[in-house]
Amino acid sequence: MSTNATTSTQTSDERMTDPNWWRQAAVYQIYPRSFYDSNGDGLGDIRGITEKVPYLQSLGIDAVWLSPFYPSALADGGYDVDDYRNVDPKLGTLADFDEMASALHSAGIKLIADIVPNHSSNRHEWFQEALASPKGSAARARYIFRDGKGPDGSQPPSDWESVFGGSAWQQVEDGQWYLHLFAPEQPDFNWDNREVRDDFLKTLRFWSDRGVDGFRVDVAHALTKDLSEPLASKDELGIEGQLLDGSHPFWDRDEVHGVFAEWRDVFNEYTPPRTAVAEAWVHASRRARYASPSGLGQAFNFDLLQADFDADQFRDIITKNLEEADASGASSTWVFSNHDVVRHATRYGLPKGGGAKGLGQDGKAWLMTNGTEPKLDVELGLRRARAATLLMLALPGSAYIYQGEELGLHEVADIADEDRQDPTFFRNAGVEKGRDGCRVPLPWSTEGGSFGFGSGTAHLPQPAWFARYAVAAQEQDEQSTLNLYRQALELRHQRQSAEELQWIDEGNPEVLHFVRPGGWHSVTNFGSTPVDLPAGTVLVTSAPLEDGKLGADSTAWIA
Ligand code: NOJ
Repeated sequence: MSTNATTSTQTSDERMTDPNWWRQAAVYQIYPRSFYDSNGDGLGDIRGITEKVPYLQSLGIDAVWLSPFYPSALADGGYDVDDYRNVDPKLGTLADFDEMASALHSAGIKLIADIVPNHSSNRHEWFQEALASPKGSAARARYIFRDGKGPDGSQPPSDWESVFGGSAWQQVEDGQWYLHLFAPEQPDFNWDNREVRDDFLKTLRFWSDRGVDGFRVDVAHALTKDLSEPLASKDELGIEGQLLDGSHPFWDRDEVHGVFAEWRDVFNEYTPPRTAVAEAWVHASRRARYASPSGLGQAFNFDLLQADFDADQFRDIITKNLEEADASGASSTWVFSNHDVVRHATRYGLPKGGGAKGLGQDGKAWLMTNGTEPKLDVELGLRRARAATLLMLALPGSAYIYQGEELGLHEVADIADEDRQDPTFFRNAGVEKGRDGCRVPLPWSTEGGSFGFGSGTAHLPQPAWFARYAVAAQEQDEQSTLNLYRQALELRHQRQSAEELQWIDEGNPEVLHFVRPGGWHSVTNFGSTPVDLPAGTVLVTSAPLEDGKLGADSTAWIA
């Protein structure tokens, strides 16, 4: 196990310059358009983030990760980027960005930017140039254009399907087709093209020079592709899922690590080196390649996010991931919620197997839905989410927290079809509800048109029950989820130690008990009967103890 992890004895200044700051960081994900709207246009913005730096500081997080804030027509929530080296004018300016970066840094908070290298938007100047240029031109070679099949080329070049539904190919006016693994507004780049590679190196330097400390790399496993003819058919070759030998034509090919080795050289030009975390939905056995210190350095594992609230599943996932992280040289990553999945308070309040669609290794992994609106147990879901989060925050490695989970927010299921924005909803004829339910603007106050999100009308409607979860309401309540997160994050700083844990067998399969170096214990009761706690001082609990015992679906930290 690594011994060079960030530890409790560091000051905030030391953490800011420590090259290992990321190893055990608590990272708070901001979906900027739904965080805080400073100018009343209904959209969250960069100045809104700057205004809320005191809130972020009070939470006790180490870094923020900003989902895309670039100019975009929002065909996919900003993951359709028009210009990689600018800020969406609806969100602010580069000067606003600089001000935000420096406010975060002054508060001891690092800044991670989302980077989207697999595809641009169809409004990107390169794609516009490609459309205006002839077949075979250099402008088209930055993307993936092919002739169609059939005598008149009217059939797509292959039967590949887009992750969002429908064909992965779109025909253009002169009859050629271009590849889009996601929405048609998201044409895939050709990563065999040196110009594309160089342009991204320029982008990495551009943001690193502006103070960005790290990058979250969108669909890192899709960049390089094998498009040699004949193109593989998904049925013949079974390319629907992942292939473990790097032979899939577009998921998880080995050559992608050549791209990231060049990125690493850029990261290492800076002091401390810039960091990166890969969003790579790959088989666990191949994750270490992305997390390697000569590559991106860290990779998400979405295993806990895909698990039920279940002691066996949690234990296996934790054990396996700590072993894997150790082998790769990276630290582990833990995450329960993000902008792509049903919030964990809701997942844990739904009957097992009902509601949230299972996640797979098939690249459609984030397309979860409330489906047939099964019965949600609101209280149970939140109780379990609090227990799970407290467990996560005690684990070695970095913890990713998605905006609103610190308020215990549930997924918003009741969004009218006409208000929905997510392409997964539109491209699946409304069968998939899409991801809007976890992207609804945050409630800051209990009253007002948009619960304090801003003075305008929130771009996605907030339900009336948001009032109960508002920051202002939770500030007043010692037992609130917000205060639980604050308390836990502060204790996490104080207790942080080497990236190790030791399991302690309680003789009860429903109880997970581990201890971190320095005597920091975490005990979770996944069962329905209260259990005794080990001797020691109780530091924090996710639910009040019951006659001194740890109740069902609860976690306690003990020193
Ligand atoms: C993963 C992002 O998290 C998701 O929101 C986006 O739709 C896809 N990548 C495509 O960029």
